[in-house]
Amino acid sequence: MGIEVVVEGLTMSFGKQNIWQDVSLTLPAGEVSVMLGPSGTGKTVFLKSLIGLLKPQQGRVLINGVDMVSSPERDIYETRKLFGLMFQDGALFGSMSLFDNIAFPLREHTRKRESEIRRIVMERIELVGLLGAEDKLPGEISGGMRKRAGLARALVLDPQIVLCDEPDSGLDPVRTAYLSQLLIDLNARIDATMLIVTHNLDIAATVPDNMGMFFRRRLVTFGPREVLLTSDEPVVTQFLAGRREGPIGMSEEKDAALLAAEAVDPAGRAAAPGHRPAAGTLPGLPPRAAVTRRRERVLGMLDQLPPAARAAIRDTYARTAGAPTLTMPAPGSGS
Ligand SMILES: Nc1ncnc2c1ncn2[C@@H]1O[C@H](COP(=O)(O)OP(=O)(O)O)[C@@H](O)[C@H]1O
Ligand SMILES: [Mg+2]
Repeated sequence: MGIEVVVEGLTMSFGKQNIWQDVSLTLPAGEVSVMLGPSGTGKTVFLKSLIGLLKPQQGRVLINGVDMVSSPERDIYETRKLFGLMFQDGALFGSMSLFDNIAFPLREHTRKRESEIRRIVMERIELVGLLGAEDKLPGEISGGMRKRAGLARALVLDPQIVLCDEPDSGLDPVRTAYLSQLLIDLNARIDATMLIVTHNLDIAATVPDNMGMFFRRRLVTFGPREVLLTSDEPVVTQFLAGRREGPIGMSEEKDAALLAAEAVDPAGRAAAPGHRPAAGTLPGLPPRAAVTRRRERVLGMLDQLPPAARAAIRDTYARTAGAPTLTMPAPGSGS
């Protein structure tokens, strides 16, 4: 099962530029969490801080008792091996076949024999649906396939924590939907703790167990998805609705994805009909183990949540009675 990641009072600045301050959250073991936020709010910096590549000035990131901010570098290095990272651009080597790209971490970090490497790589290639493309160069395949290759590479060392930085950037809506399903199915199969950074509203509304959002140097909220989806914080509702009106401005932290969403759907999202089901696993896969654990955890914390979120969670679990598919009122639906 995945490992819990506990972040306490994290504050990060580059010189005089403060990126965010006093960020605290827990990524529950084995659950899927999504982090939203306009461009430039420090989401990538946050991911790099979790793996100890960047060092915030204050706070702790605790994983199995190791603090990724201030523990000895050798402990951080060992703990980093628990992570699988999927970068924004896939970050593949252009001159290497997909097979060699995906095999790279195994050849670099393990002493496995080539036959064993082949077995692992082909298994991951199948997992992400790239069978038959293993001999292609990154330049010969679509952006969606490159993303999936990046994901396969992130998975070869059997990570217990998977971080994906904007896995949807540059993908069309159909490919994004496939990728969302892939991430959920992946969670069902490997039960890793997952954090996905995105500003894709469809991924945000359907994939996660938990959601958070960065804005103006703060973590605005982080918790069960129902909390954010029922929030009446102006910045959250503006972001989820993809509206122009609100605290997120053109000059400040407003990004291309948001502008595109507005252009396609100027007011529609706020009035979107009733319910947005969270993605279940595809037929033939086991239900996600995280679903049962999350249910216990979330029902156990009900009295700490705002009334709207409480009602939504009660509604979710009353309606589905343990089935792996959750349903959720859309923001602004008035329920
Ligand atoms: N290594 C660095 N040195 C200095 N500034 C940085 C560094 N990395 C990121 N930043 C700054 O941190 C801010 C947040 O960046 P980033 O985490 O990439 O935002 P996001 O991923 O949310 O779009 C940006 O203003 C960026 O210029
Ligand atoms: Mg980024």
